Amino acid sequence: MRFRTLGKGGPKVSLVGLGFWEAGGRAWKSPKGNWIIEVVKKAIEMEINFFDTAEIYGFGNSERLLGEALKRLNVKDDVIVASKVGGFRFYEGLIIKGIKAINRRLARTVDLIQAHWPPPAWMPLCKAIRGLEEAVLNGLAHYYGLSNYPADLVERVLECSKRVEPISNQVQYSLAYRTPENELKPLLKKQELSLIAWSPLAKGALAGILSPKDPAQRSDRIFMTAVKDRKLQEALKTVAEKLNTSKAIIALSWLIQKGAIPIPGTRKVNRVAEIASAADLEISDDLIKMLDDASKQYVTRWGRKYKVLQWLRYVPCSIQYLSLLITRGA
Ligand SMILES: NC(=O)c1ccc[n+]([C@@H]2O[C@H](COP(=O)([O-])OP(=O)(O)OC[C@H]3O[C@@H](n4cnc5c(N)ncnc54)[C@H](OP(=O)(O)O)[C@@H]3O)[C@@H](O)[C@H]2O)c1
Repeated sequence: MRFRTLGKGGPKVSLVGLGFWEAGGRAWKSPKGNWIIEVVKKAIEMEINFFDTAEIYGFGNSERLLGEALKRLNVKDDVIVASKVGGFRFYEGLIIKGIKAINRRLARTVDLIQAHWPPPAWMPLCKAIRGLEEAVLNGLAHYYGLSNYPADLVERVLECSKRVEPISNQVQYSLAYRTPENELKPLLKKQELSLIAWSPLAKGALAGILSPKDPAQRSDRIFMTAVKDRKLQEALKTVAEKLNTSKAIIALSWLIQKGAIPIPGTRKVNRVAEIASAADLEISDDLIKMLDDASKQYVTRWGRKYKVLQWLRYVPCSIQYLSLLITRGA
């Protein structure tokens, strides 16, 4: 496994991590049994040391299950656990309260706490950032990062983060969603913030899944578009055949070679070694170009600016929280 430092001086994480929305998240059908322990065990065996979850995944369920798995496997400082506080936590006190609850569920101090989406447009952004800084300064989290922050908001965060700087921004990025390449990626590179890529397999569409099986896929227009995109699927197949590997590995390696850290989600232990091997693959420049060309439309198809989850900035925090309470999270 190869590793990369997050941000300017953050922790060293494996070039590919694992996402745990699938563990207990409402949008994914979660199999019964000990599969999370098996997935985490195999990941550690393969030297994957970076695990991502969030307070909204199954309303804390995902954090609880990941925490239990780490405890059962007696894993402590050898992994980097990232979680996220919802954007409805818009000021210091609420953020600190949220992080304390996350740490209780994880049964450890979260390594990287991320702001899942920006606070409402009419709330002062710096108040939320102050909460994250405070959490790091008080030892409630080792580092903090952002998630779903478009370029203009990242710039504003950097203006208000006077005491502790963020180390990363977790955004949607894949061969089927290349919007971050327009503004975000160049800015993050300039500011030395790491780009963590969520839905790196477009919810499985880039890994050979041909029809939606889970609610998360059914409701996702990027998944639905990518499964039907014959040009992109052909290019993935051709490159995979040339390198004697799978579409999933190609889609993840493409992201790694673009400088991102993908965090694919899986409920199947037998996929973990495959996911880990994406960190070792080198795709030649001409094959990268073939993938770039086949996915060119996605640089602008979903918009030039990063807009994912930005509609939440126009929903009052109390309504955001109430809907999550009623649905028991995402
Ligand atoms: N910050 C945010 O707003 C945000 C939003 C969404 C997700 N995330 C994070 O990103 C993580 C991953 O994103 P995601 O779950 O949306 O999508 P994803 O990782 O792109 O895709 C997950 C899907 O791919 C399938 N899969 C995984 N590896 C495979 C392989 N080798 N071959 C075939 N299929 C494979 C999985 O099925 P099986 O389970 O059957 O393997 C699952 O259906 C989440 O767990 C979460 O931590 C963050």
